Amino acid sequence: MKTIVIGSGGREHAIAWALSKSPKVGEVICIPGNGGTACEEKCRNIQVSVSETASVVEVCKNELSGLNDGSFIVIGPEDPLAAGIVNRLADEGLDVVGPQQSAAALEASKDVAKRFMSKYGVACAKSEAFTSVADAVAALEDIKGPVVIKADGLAGGKGVVITDDHDTAIQTLRDFIKNGTLGVAGRKILLEEYLAGDEISILAAVSVSPGLADQGRASIVPFLPARDHKRLLDGALGPNTGGMGAIAPVPGLDPDILDRFRTDILEPTLKGLIEENYEYRGFLFFGVMITGDGPKLLEYNVRLGDPETQAVLPLMDFDFAEMCRAIIDGTLSSFQFKWRDGYVCAPVAVSGGYPASYLKGLPIKMDKQVIRESGAKIFIAGATANRRKMVRRCVERLSVLFRNRTPGPGELITSGAGSLPLLPSAVQSMKRAAGLTGRLTAFPLRGCSSGAI
Ligand code: AMP
Ligand code: GLY
Repeated sequence: MKTIVIGSGGREHAIAWALSKSPKVGEVICIPGNGGTACEEKCRNIQVSVSETASVVEVCKNELSGLNDGSFIVIGPEDPLAAGIVNRLADEGLDVVGPQQSAAALEASKDVAKRFMSKYGVACAKSEAFTSVADAVAALEDIKGPVVIKADGLAGGKGVVITDDHDTAIQTLRDFIKNGTLGVAGRKILLEEYLAGDEISILAAVSVSPGLADQGRASIVPFLPARDHKRLLDGALGPNTGGMGAIAPVPGLDPDILDRFRTDILEPTLKGLIEENYEYRGFLFFGVMITGDGPKLLEYNVRLGDPETQAVLPLMDFDFAEMCRAIIDGTLSSFQFKWRDGYVCAPVAVSGGYPASYLKGLPIKMDKQVIRESGAKIFIAGATANRRKMVRRCVERLSVLFRNRTPGPGELITSGAGSLPLLPSAVQSMKRAAGLTGRLTAFPLRGCSSGAI
């Protein structure tokens, strides 16, 4: 069968790679894909922007119509989901992994998500929504300690500000609500109770529809827990980023926490998805804070996480394409999940200067032999393949997987720019998981000589 992956990030590269491993999949089409998917076996990129819904639907229709072999589409990022691409594709009779637009609001509007959590008793932080600066500022007076300000809409990771400085809080409220620094996404904001603790990410497969619920077959199946490392530097220091790496499963996670996650977060979520009559056959990301009072839900994302996916998918010991079919067919509750032992660490290498300004357009050189010998797998984001050379397009991000061990000196892959501030925090977790001690500082990077992958 044919599969289509919508999106261009490292997550979509990992999804395409996982699909390509299935003997049942003959071809993986990536719209638009990236330099990594361009070089992946069975994969073919089609250059259409994800934001052009009508064109994407047209390409999917042309590629899949008339095939009665189980072919399907997976939507990677949140924007097309919020724009209702799943509804458009379903109208064409195509099979899609992704929630319909009404359910996608669980990520697209934090207000919708919080109302849902409170209606169905999902454990979470208290919060209140505001569209007036004056009302929000007045409410600040009642908050002791740090305040969490969240833009209601999708803000590409820039919509949450946590501060214990009163002036910064007021300025943020003015910027979001009045000055429109985040556009419409920030015109409504939430003030939320600050939760202290350790964060984990739980990705899950979801197969929910009114019909499935009537037959008692609606289900959510969580994957292995993962942890995303968001700060640029070692020891959780430096600015926030789009993620410097992920590890799965989470080292040292108490199984009781996962039991509480199931009863206090997952089960009420399933009940809510059913009662809201959502058509949700896709993935769901639970951003969870483990507090002294048990796990609390910070957010839903109606898709797989990035970079968590790059760490979790390689641990699957089952056919990912078959699991996607089970999501679509409503047979998820009887699908046999099996996970490999050990850990996967997926650190991210970025251009020097990231997340501020950084060099673009330089070739990334990789040494195939080094990669092969290290047992690593590289997922690409933000780089295109140009005549077999990988060229940075925007945020260059390479996720390098090291299964069950930390990378040795010279094992990380350098880019043309030379210095890569590499994810030491993710590697530190990996070290802990592997029982290794000692400080691990910057990696000596091998300047790779041979051409692109
Ligand atoms: P969100 O987009 O809601 O997940 O927020 C982004 C990040 O802000 C989360 O991954 C947390 O690190 C942090 N965060 C969000 N809400 C809270 C909260 N209520 N208390 C503490 N940290 C939070
Ligand atoms: N890693 C967090 C996210 O994908 O939203």
